[in-house]
Amino acid sequence: MFTVQSELNLNDKLHTLLVGIFQDDKKPTGLVKEIDGKLNGQVKELFLSGDLSAKLKKITKLYTLGSLGAKRIYFVGLGLRKDLTYRKIREAFGKAAKELKQNKHSEVAVALDSFISDQVEKGQTAHALAEAFITATYQFEDYKEKKNDKRFSFESVNVFTNTEVQSIEDSLNEGIAYAAGTNVARNLVNTPGNLLTPTDLADSAVSIAKKYDFEYDVLEKEDMKELGMGALLAVSQGSVEDPKLIVVKYKAKENWDNVLTFVGKGLTFDAGGYSLKPAPNMHEMKSDMGGSAAVLGAMEAVGRLKPDTNIMFVIPSSENLINGAAMKPGDVLTSMSGKTIEITNTDAEGRLILADAITYAKELGASYLVDLATLTGGVVVALGDIATGVMSNDEEFFNLFNDCAEETGEYVWRLPMFEPYTKILRISDVADFVNSAGKLAHPVQGGVFLSEFVGDTPWVHIDIAGTAYSNKANELGPKGATGVMTRSLIKLTERFVAKSN
Ligand code: BES
Ligand code: MN
Ligand code: ZN
Repeated sequence: MFTVQSELNLNDKLHTLLVGIFQDDKKPTGLVKEIDGKLNGQVKELFLSGDLSAKLKKITKLYTLGSLGAKRIYFVGLGLRKDLTYRKIREAFGKAAKELKQNKHSEVAVALDSFISDQVEKGQTAHALAEAFITATYQFEDYKEKKNDKRFSFESVNVFTNTEVQSIEDSLNEGIAYAAGTNVARNLVNTPGNLLTPTDLADSAVSIAKKYDFEYDVLEKEDMKELGMGALLAVSQGSVEDPKLIVVKYKAKENWDNVLTFVGKGLTFDAGGYSLKPAPNMHEMKSDMGGSAAVLGAMEAVGRLKPDTNIMFVIPSSENLINGAAMKPGDVLTSMSGKTIEITNTDAEGRLILADAITYAKELGASYLVDLATLTGGVVVALGDIATGVMSNDEEFFNLFNDCAEETGEYVWRLPMFEPYTKILRISDVADFVNSAGKLAHPVQGGVFLSEFVGDTPWVHIDIAGTAYSNKANELGPKGATGVMTRSLIKLTERFVAKSN
C-alpha cells in the first residue's frame, strides 16, 4: 500500500495530494509556491484571507479544477516549525487520514518533504505517516446484522521525497509494524468476553507465534497444578473456562540470555468474583486483557521487524467469575513462589495471576521484566485516560523504558515505591501478605504486590487500567480499545538490540 517515489511532478495525474504547511511561512514557499503558481496566486489569497490556515492539525481541502494533475489537495496545518514534535505530526497525519477516510479517498500522494522541519527528521516523519494512517483509520468489525459500509483502507499511499528512497521505505515499514501491532491489540481488547475466552486468547497467541516461527508453549490446568501455581488457579476456579498460561520465545541469539520479557494480564472477563463489581460499566471488563493484548501486539511487530535480541512473551489468562468453587474473601493461597496470600478482595485478581506468571517467567530465564496490566481503578482516578502509571525497581531500566515511551509519544508517569509502601500489604495475621489493603495508595499496592515476586530482576510495572480503553475517539483511532503501550514495548525491543550487542 505504501510506495516511495523520488520526483513529484505537479502535472502528474493524482487522486489526492497531501501537503504540509507551516505557520511561520507568511507567504507560500517551496512546493506550496509552485502550487500557488499553477493556481494563479489563489493559494496566497486564501492564506491572506484566512481560509487556508496552517494552524496545527487544521486540514483544508482544495479542488484544483484542472489547473494541476492532482484533483484535490489536502493542506495539513503543522503550526510553527519550532513547536513541532513527533506526537504532533503524528496527530496531524491521523486527522488527515480520518478526513480522507470520511471522504472515501483511498488513493493518496504525500509530498513528504513539505512536512519536514528541524524538529522531526525525515525518517521519523515517514514513520509517523505510516503509523498514523493505519491506526487512525482502524475500525473494529462489529457483529451487526447489517454489515456497515464504513470499512475503509488505503489502496495506495505514494510518498514523494527528493532523497533517501530506501531509508524512507524502511521508516515506513517500521511505522506499519508499529501500527499493525497496535491494531492487533485493539482487536483483541474490543472482542467480547464470550468470543475471547482464555482458550481463544491462547489460540490467537499461537497463531502469531506460528506465523513467525516462534517457539511456544501453552500450559494447561494440570501443568499449573504440577508447578504449584496456586494463585493463578484460585482465580480461575470460579469459572468453567480453563485457565491458560501462554509462553512464546523469540530466540534471536545463540544463547538464551539477556532475555527481555513481557508479561501481560489476560483476564478475558473480570466480574470481580465474590467481591462483585457494580453493574454499570461492568461490560467494559471485557477489556481486562489489555495487558496481554499489548504483549501480543508487540509480538506481531517483533515478527515483522525481527530485532536482534532475545524476547519472551508470557500471558496468564483466566476469567474472574462466581460459582460454587470460586475463591472467597479470607481464603489463603500458596503461590508458585511459595509465598502465601490472604484474599481480602477477590476483585484484586490481576496481581494473583501475574504473580505466578512472573515467578514462572523467571524460571524460564527472564533477565528483564516488564508487566502490563489493567490492574487498578486507582490509577484511573489518579491519571485518567491520558497517562499510564508506571513503577520500577531499577533506575536504569526505568529510564530506558521512559525514553521509549517518550519517543513513541505515549504518556507515562512513575508512581513511587518508597520503603514504607513496601510494607503496606504485610498486614495479614495468617499469610505473608494480603492481596489488597483498601483504598490508600491503591495503584501503588498493585505494583508493590508484584514486586514481591519480581525480586531483584530489573522490572517495570505498567498499569494501563485508565488508558487501554477510551470512551472517546481521538486523532489516532476510534473510541474503544486504544492498543496503548504496544508501541512503547516495540520501541523497547529495538532499544534492547543496542543494549544487548
Ligand atoms: N480489572 C480491574 C481494574 C480496572 C478498573 C481496570 C477499571 C480497568 C478499569 C482490577 O482487577 C480490579 O478490579 N481492581 C480493583 C482492586 C481493588 C479491589 C483492590 C480496583 O481497582 O478497584
Ligand atoms: Mn478485578
Ligand atoms: Zn481485573
